[in-house]
Amino acid sequence: MSIEVVRPARTLQGSLTLPGDKSISHRYAMLAGLAEGTTRLSNFSTGADPASSLACMEALGATVKTTGEGPARVIEITGTSGNFVEPEQPLDCGNSGSTMRMLSGLIAPHPHTFTLVGDHSLTLRPMERIRKPLAAMGARMELVDGHAPITIFGGPLKAIAFETPIPSAQVKTAVLFAGLQAEGITSLSEPVRTRDHSEHALRAFGATIRREADTLSIPGPQRLAAIDATVPGDLSSAAFFLCAALLFPDANLILDSVGMNPTRTALLDVLGWLGAKFKVLNVEEHHGEMIGTIQVNVSPGGLAGARIQGDLSAMLIDELPVLAAIAPYTRDGIIIRDAKELRVKESDRIALVAKNLAAMGAEFTEYPDGLEIPGGQQLHGAEIDSGTDHRIAMAFSIAALRATGETAIHGAEAAAISFPEFFSHLRELCPE
Ligand code: S3P
Repeated sequence: MSIEVVRPARTLQGSLTLPGDKSISHRYAMLAGLAEGTTRLSNFSTGADPASSLACMEALGATVKTTGEGPARVIEITGTSGNFVEPEQPLDCGNSGSTMRMLSGLIAPHPHTFTLVGDHSLTLRPMERIRKPLAAMGARMELVDGHAPITIFGGPLKAIAFETPIPSAQVKTAVLFAGLQAEGITSLSEPVRTRDHSEHALRAFGATIRREADTLSIPGPQRLAAIDATVPGDLSSAAFFLCAALLFPDANLILDSVGMNPTRTALLDVLGWLGAKFKVLNVEEHHGEMIGTIQVNVSPGGLAGARIQGDLSAMLIDELPVLAAIAPYTRDGIIIRDAKELRVKESDRIALVAKNLAAMGAEFTEYPDGLEIPGGQQLHGAEIDSGTDHRIAMAFSIAALRATGETAIHGAEAAAISFPEFFSHLRELCPE
């Protein structure tokens, strides 16, 4: 386990080009592996999670080639034209819940036996949520007490009408990817609108998929064709620096080519309530995804506060740890409720945020579904436990920027799951 020491910073200044969005990278990798032809992806995520999806695609018979480096890096995926092979080894999903859940839907219609495994954290995460709808479509799936390892005895599936009981884009995607290859029209309604990258990605690869109010329908079976695409910068990775900017009255941050899909931008609304001022420049659309350049400053008068609850908690699920980590520095504090899903992410994120806030000397109240963190608190440097969770490692590195004394982030290497460049950007943008 590696330790990164983060010292208090004076300001945050500069511009940042973010690695490709993790959610979109997974989806493009998987659909490219199923499609016919060679897909070329620029700005593919540099994180370990999407690399797990690429490795699974190779194990399923796709060819993956990387050319160029840095900004010129291109991932070329030659797909299987709809015919995955039976992998020789278990499909290793690493730390990635997205890989395990979405891939299950993608491979279940194929006439092979598949085993999906993951690391310790992934093996603790609930998988019954995908088994249920896929079993209703006719898939035979075995779990171990609701968890990985998963065995799928694949075969032809039939369409279903499904209502998602929990807001989860991963579960939605598993059903859509299976529905794409099933006989008939699969429909899915989601009471809370979750990120819609799968819908855009499916259309980009040539599939027909419709939305009416909160119901999606996808006819099957359909074939996919390869695409050329540039993955937008990851707004959930940008979130760490956006929150950091709020901690410095003279901050000036520019984010280049960042994804601005409206199902992902709730963070910008909350940061606006807290006192951020945004200028959005050069907005473009690529394969249905909005991309823009954002300039961020902070309004004079300090940070207000925010109450995050209901559907908003689901829409902000990946950004809640860093919002909680900066909450003590706001004036009015931050209340997070209706976020019990946070307890079944890469770690129990409510418990770990609470543990690390306490280590830094913060006062707060922990609830089963959230946290209430009063504002106007000064934190001190501490020993932080990432719990091998990338978003916890990064969130508390941001809290450390305004603490007194230095903070040691234990298990800092976890950041590489989604954002390997995080600590070098932190040092560049936030001088001591
Ligand atoms: C993701 C969806 C979210 C999110 C995860 C990525 C996706 O999970 O927390 O980091 O790419 O669809 P759930 O859909 O399970 O809430």
